[in-house]
Amino acid sequence: MNDKIDVTLNINGREHSIHIEPRKTLVDAIRDECGLTGTHIGCEHGFCGACTVIVAGEAVRSCLMFAVQAERKPIRTVEGLAKNGVYHPLQRAFMAHHGLQCGFCTPGFLMLTANALEKNPHINDEELLDLLSSNLCRCTGYQGIIKAVQAARDEMRPPAPAVVEAPAAEIDPSHETAQDTAPAEPEMLEPTVDR
Ligand code: FES
Ligand code: FES
Repeated sequence: MNDKIDVTLNINGREHSIHIEPRKTLVDAIRDECGLTGTHIGCEHGFCGACTVIVAGEAVRSCLMFAVQAERKPIRTVEGLAKNGVYHPLQRAFMAHHGLQCGFCTPGFLMLTANALEKNPHINDEELLDLLSSNLCRCTGYQGIIKAVQAARDEMRPPAPAVVEAPAAEIDPSHETAQDTAPAEPEMLEPTVDR
């Protein structure tokens, strides 16, 4: 019995019509059926984050999702990060700040952080550390990854809106305070002494 089904995956803006078993995970479908091997498989049970891709605007672990669950939803993988031959700021920052060594974990970190920076360009360092703790790297010791993501965040962050000073309030002379209009204290009179 052929229990395979037809599924269409939209990856990086391109449709892939594939014929797969319903139990096929998204990461296996992306790699084996669509030929996009930039997304890596590490632990296969949701622990390492190497398989992270973006589905419908959310970073997901594609080893924990069936391909059929992602049907017709926009999927983004590391192959779609560079545009028109120009690397994404995160990709440049990972190279500049030694954010990778063997590179096995890198696609997962790139997709995780690309999604986070799109959602919150002003993410602070504490939130960034918390985010990065969800993915594993066996080589770098993380410092290069942290510096790279901070650098990309600082490059991508839209400038803060200019602070416009409120004009100084004009003083309306008709609004004098009671103090302004209070009569002056009468001067103390020297007591006169009759002699
Ligand atoms: Fe998916 Fe490790 S391979 S989380
Ligand atoms: Fe090798 Fe992260 S660079 S696992």
